[in-house]
Amino acid sequence: MGELRSRRSVLAVPGSNPRFVEKARGLDTDAFFLDLEDAVAPLEKESARETVVKALNDGGWEGRVRSVRVNDISTGWAYRDVITVVEGAGAHLDTLVLPKVTAARDVHWLDTLLTQIERAAGLPVGRIGIEAQIEDAKGLVNVDEIAAASPRLETLVYGPADFMASINMKSLVVGEQPPGYDVGDAYHHVLMRILVAARAHGVQAIDGPYLQIRDVDAFRRAAGRTAALGFDGKWVLHPLQVEAANEAFAPSQEDYDHAELILDAYAHATTVDRRGAVMLGEEMLDEASRKMALVVAGKGRAAGL
Ligand code: GLV
Ligand code: MG
Repeated sequence: MGELRSRRSVLAVPGSNPRFVEKARGLDTDAFFLDLEDAVAPLEKESARETVVKALNDGGWEGRVRSVRVNDISTGWAYRDVITVVEGAGAHLDTLVLPKVTAARDVHWLDTLLTQIERAAGLPVGRIGIEAQIEDAKGLVNVDEIAAASPRLETLVYGPADFMASINMKSLVVGEQPPGYDVGDAYHHVLMRILVAARAHGVQAIDGPYLQIRDVDAFRRAAGRTAALGFDGKWVLHPLQVEAANEAFAPSQEDYDHAELILDAYAHATTVDRRGAVMLGEEMLDEASRKMALVVAGKGRAAGL
């Protein structure tokens, strides 16, 4: 997990809209993707590819993970999305987001196609990563094989809107609890399933969008919940959501400082004193405490704390 890139905030940008693309350049997100899928109307799908290629080649995305979301493999658009974008801008692209992944074979298809294009275009083979959206019942059932499908895989991304539709959830508000379900968190199983599969295979777990874009407090609560579980970041749809995501998926300064203190104290205890357990104030530390502290410290260092 160590070398994976920071993705606290992942900005969704409609690939057919040059004005939104221009705006996205100025936003302080860890990552972004130019969308060719659900934010692009069918009649715009083909021209959007050129807009996306130009946006990547024009640059101005320094320090961010640069992605494109292609259409899903059941459509007639997917293969040409991949070919046009990677042939046209492969050197300026870090990952492709594959939506509606239902099985490992979807990822294999993209992996193979990417390798062919990289070879033909003289690009380094294997550099472009894959992000797999888990957003229907089949995808969730097969999430373990999807997480293990390719060394290119960098993230599993929860797609709440499509997922809610896929299971016939009786709700129209993405990310909020379905009305009438008052006995817990209706999403807990889905989120944990994705998170555990991601961790088991050393990839990141990213939470999907929150569609009530003007309600920043509600976004903050939603992001806070998945950050608390262990997710690495969340999609953002609007400038208002960016800072809230960056904050939610980084530890607080206090937790970060405490994590570094634990690491120092435990390193001293195990090496100088040769002890496996030690007290730090009122707290007993052992090897598992070190691992927990390392997670928090790692996220804090990545966030520049
Ligand atoms: C994202 O793609 C979603 O379906 O929520
Ligand atoms: Mg979706």
